[in-house]
Amino acid sequence: MEITFRNMQFDDLLNYSIMEKRYFADTSMLSSHAISFLYESRFSYICEIDGRIVGVSIVENIQNTNLITCLCVESSFRRLNIAKTLIKKTLSAIKEVYGEGTEVEIMCSEMNTNALNLYQSFGFKISKVEKNAYFDETDGLIMKLRIE
Ligand SMILES: CC(C)(COP(=O)(O)OP(=O)(O)OC[C@H]1O[C@@H](n2cnc3c(N)ncnc32)[C@H](O)[C@@H]1OP(=O)(O)O)[C@@H](O)C(=O)NCCC(=O)NCCS
Repeated sequence: MEITFRNMQFDDLLNYSIMEKRYFADTSMLSSHAISFLYESRFSYICEIDGRIVGVSIVENIQNTNLITCLCVESSFRRLNIAKTLIKKTLSAIKEVYGEGTEVEIMCSEMNTNALNLYQSFGFKISKVEKNAYFDETDGLIMKLRIE
């Protein structure tokens, strides 16, 4: 089994979009992913196993904020530290460009304990609660990390 981590490429958009639709009820249109890609892709990473995309970490810059808008790992490849490695690569790429002290944000459902554990292990802290942020009316926790 060959595991590779690399920067996201334009050709990945379709496969990433298909994967995202499997795991998130409210997803963006492919065209919107393409526009985001053209503006900002240097912090977005892909994990491939034997040439197949099994994990993504997507960063968009929205109103001067680096926002991780999608983090997802195929269910059969979870608990292998793939998400952890993707986040590490994303944070280190952001730090390289913007330096220490740069903030990164992510929004996570209050019910998603797996993801909350992961973000808290990196030091992300809840900065705001967005009521009924998700389609099932659960609250969204906006979490921030200051990269050191
Ligand atoms: C959340 C998600 C990205 C984690 O991916 P992963 O590759 O399995 O995560 P990792 O193996 O890198 O785990 C890293 C840490 O996350 C936490 N974690 C991940 N899965 C967990 C689980 N099932 N139960 C408890 N903690 C979990 C743990 O802190 C873990 O560290 P540890 O293994 O040292 O305990 C994955 O479960 C996923 O894609 N879920 C569906 C999409 C999603 O919810 N994305 C996040 C949106 S905000």
